[in-house]
Amino acid sequence: MKSTMNVSKYRPFPTVKLENRQWPDNVITKAPIWCGVCLRDGNQSLYKPMTEEEKEKYFRLLCDIGFKEIEVGFPSASVTDYEFVRRIIENNFIPEDVAIQVLVPAREDLIKKTIESLVGAKKVIIHLYYPTSPAQRRVVLKVTKEQAIESAVRGMKWIMEYSKKLVGTDITYQFSPESFSCTEWGFAVNICWAVMEVVKPTVEHKIILNLPATMEVSTPNVYADQIEWFCKEIPSRDKLIISVHTHNDQGTGVAATELALLAGADRVEGTLFGNGERTGNTDLATVALNLFSQGINPKLDFSNIMAIRKTYELCTGMKVPPRHPYSGDLVFTAFSGTHQDAIRKGLNERIEKTNEPWDVPYLPIDPKDIGRTYEKVIRVNGQSGKGGIAYLLESECAIHLPKDLEIDFGKIAGKQIDALCREVSSEDLKGMFWKEYVERNSYMQFVRYNDIEIDDVTCDCNLVVTVGGIERFLTGTGNGPINAAVNALKKFRSDLVDIVDQAEHSLREGSNAEAISYVKTAWSDGEICWGVGIDKNSTRASIKAIISAMNRK
Ligand code: KIV
Ligand code: ZN
Repeated sequence: MKSTMNVSKYRPFPTVKLENRQWPDNVITKAPIWCGVCLRDGNQSLYKPMTEEEKEKYFRLLCDIGFKEIEVGFPSASVTDYEFVRRIIENNFIPEDVAIQVLVPAREDLIKKTIESLVGAKKVIIHLYYPTSPAQRRVVLKVTKEQAIESAVRGMKWIMEYSKKLVGTDITYQFSPESFSCTEWGFAVNICWAVMEVVKPTVEHKIILNLPATMEVSTPNVYADQIEWFCKEIPSRDKLIISVHTHNDQGTGVAATELALLAGADRVEGTLFGNGERTGNTDLATVALNLFSQGINPKLDFSNIMAIRKTYELCTGMKVPPRHPYSGDLVFTAFSGTHQDAIRKGLNERIEKTNEPWDVPYLPIDPKDIGRTYEKVIRVNGQSGKGGIAYLLESECAIHLPKDLEIDFGKIAGKQIDALCREVSSEDLKGMFWKEYVERNSYMQFVRYNDIEIDDVTCDCNLVVTVGGIERFLTGTGNGPINAAVNALKKFRSDLVDIVDQAEHSLREGSNAEAISYVKTAWSDGEICWGVGIDKNSTRASIKAIISAMNRK
C-alpha cells in the first residue's frame, strides 16, 4: 500500500547558532518558582470544564501541595471563572502566602472586567498575553510586528491604569508572548522589552516574562537555546523573572522545561499530571519528582500522590494513564522475571543499607516516599521468572522457599501461569503451591507418629499411614526422629535413599503457629524430589513433607 504521508509538506525547525552555549554544562541545584495553571490552561481543555465547587476543591489541593502561585482562571472569558475568583477572595480561601494569577488578553473591556474580579485580593499576578508568532500575526491577528508591539504595550498600559483600583493589593505583572517558541528570536525580545518599559520593574518588584512553547515544534535543546539566548539579550535581567510554559505536542514537554531551567529560567508553569490543551502542558508532578530523584527538595509535597491523583481525576474527569511517571498504576510494577529478581535483591540490600543513597534497579525512587508501596511491586505473569514467584510467596504469604525449591516450583508454576494467560496473585500462587506439594496425599497419607528415645543418639519410631485407604504400621530406628521415620518409610519404598536438604520455619508469629517443613529427597534412580508438610509440631511437619515427596515421586 502506498503511504499517504506527505513529508514534503514539512520543513526543519530553524535553529540559530548559539555562540558559547552554556546550558549543556549547567546543573539544576534548586527548585524553581512553581505556578500551577491547572485551573486555567488545564481547565479550558476539558470536555466539561470544572464547576465552581470542583475548582475550589482543586485550588485547595494545589495550596496543600505547596503552590504559592496559582493561575485561577480567565475571568473575562468565563462566568464560572469570574465567580470562582470572587468566591475565593470573598470567603478568604486564599492562604496569605499564595498569589492568585489571572489571564487576560490585550482588550480594554476584558482587562477592566478582569481587574474587577480581583478587588479585595491580597496578592495577585495579572497575566497579559499577546500572540507573537508569524502564523498568529499573519492568519489570526493580521498585524505587523510594529502593530503587535503597540497592542501589547497598550494592553499593559490599561492593566497598569485599571489596577490602580486594587488598593492594598500586592500586584505582580506578567507578560507572555504567546507562541514564543515559534516567534522570531529578536522580535520576542523586542516585544517583551517594550512591555517592560511600561511596567518599569525593579530588582525588588520584578516583572514575570513567561516564554511559552504554546505548541511544541522542536527538540527540547532548541527551546533551551531560545531561553538562554533570550536571557542574554533582554536588558535588565536582574529585574525579571523568566518563566517557562511548555506544551507537550512532541512528547518532550517535561524535557523542554528541564533544559529551560538549565538555560536560565527561574519559574515553571504547568499542570498536575500534564492536563492541558491537545497533548497537555508540562506535568509539574513529574518535573518536581525528577528533581526529588536527584536529591533536590522540590518544595512541593507529593508524599501522597495517589490521593492527589484521585482528587485530580474526580475534578477533571480525566484519567492518569497506567504508565504515567510516578502516579500511574503500573509504574512501580515489574512484569519481567529479570527485573523482579533485580528489584528483590535491591530491596533486600536496603534492609541493611537504609542510610545509603537510593540505588535499586528499576525503581527510580523509593515508592514509599510518594505514599506508594512495594507490596505490589512484583506481579507475576507468563513472562515472570522464579524470582517474582518467590518474592510474592515470601512477601504476601510468609512462605520462604529454599533456593532449589524456588527453581523446582518456578518451573511448575510457570507452565500453569502460561496456560492461564493472565497475571496471577499471591493467592493463586499459594493455591498452586499447596496443590503441588502440601496436599499431595492421594497415594499415602500421614495418620500419626510417635517416637521413643533409646539413648542420646538412637530413637525408635512408630508411624501410621494409610495407603489406598488401608492403614499401615511402620517402624524404624535412626539417629533422631526424622531419620527413624525415613528408615520406617524405606521399608515401604526401598528406592528412597535419604533426605539431602531440609529447611523449616513457622508460618505465622506466636507459639500457636504452624511449622512448614521443606525436604529434598534423593531416590535410587538419581531423581531428586521436594516435599512440603505443615503441622503444629515441627517433626510431624517434616514427616508429612517426606510423605509429600514420596507421593510426588
Ligand atoms: O500556551 C500558552 O501559550 C498559554 C499562554 C496563554 C501563556 O497558555
Ligand atoms: Zn498554555
